[in-house]
Amino acid sequence: MLAQGLRKTRVSIGGLAQDPNVGYLSHFNPLGDAMDFPPILQEMLSENQTIGRSGKIFRDLPSNSTVNNLKFIQQTMRERRPLRTLEIGLAFGASTLVFCTENKKLGHAGEKQHTAIDPYQPYSPYDEAGVYAVERAKLADYLDYRPEFSEFVLPRLLESHQRYDFIYIDGSHLFENVFIDTFYCARLLNDGGWMALDDSSDPHVAKVIEFMRANLAGAVKEISLGAKSALAGFVGRRQLTVFERLPYDGPHGPRKWDTPLRVWDSKFGKF
Ligand SMILES: C[S@@+](CC[C@H](N)C(=O)[O-])C[C@H]1O[C@@H](n2cnc3c(N)ncnc32)[C@H](O)[C@@H]1O
Repeated sequence: MLAQGLRKTRVSIGGLAQDPNVGYLSHFNPLGDAMDFPPILQEMLSENQTIGRSGKIFRDLPSNSTVNNLKFIQQTMRERRPLRTLEIGLAFGASTLVFCTENKKLGHAGEKQHTAIDPYQPYSPYDEAGVYAVERAKLADYLDYRPEFSEFVLPRLLESHQRYDFIYIDGSHLFENVFIDTFYCARLLNDGGWMALDDSSDPHVAKVIEFMRANLAGAVKEISLGAKSALAGFVGRRQLTVFERLPYDGPHGPRKWDTPLRVWDSKFGKF
């Protein structure tokens, strides 16, 4: 059924070896579970095609998140029951469909609880296919769609005191963009909230992850996705890396919207 979608599946999922100080997603078994994605997504994956708002047919969807990642998002939504979610990079809407579906399945009325940012969505590479798929799935009430660059949207979200429980970073994969995205997302997360970075073995993304490990250990801790993930990381094929926001215990009292991730004279951790 999912021949084309599975063709794209990379079985490598990132994570650390099990460590008592590292959080953990229970029983993450991405390919072992039955597929219960929304029908529009199942069709998109099985046929490897979708339709844009103007009627344009897209016959190859190379930017779709892997099935592993989509299952990870689904499972995280079900286990952690986040109230507000955010993603950077909408493309044809694969991950957006999972977020919106799962937000609905949590039993809440649609209040735009999922924010999706993508500046190229209205233009010909996508023809709003992602947003249109969400509308076709009758999930538009759950989507707060921002057709802008994340580097401009994220600081505005922060300044307007928005907070999220689960963030998926899958926009521009350039080092500078991923760095800016993770910097703001760490501040936008509620304590205990998770951010997941796709394509963790991409050199740009991997560099940002190394920076986070070496310098932001007081603000975020890495989450283990199990033994398979550790092995994937070992052979340089890590797909996902996940960090959890730690409660703030710095010198400036309770954490506020503008509290820095660490004090200004913190030591530089080489990476
Ligand atoms: C790999 S695709 C996202 C795939 C999507 N998450 C899915 O599951 O189908 C990356 C997306 O990031 C978007 N993008 C590129 N630069 C961006 C930026 N600066 N801010 C936000 N999105 C960006 C691209 O337009 C593209 O749609």
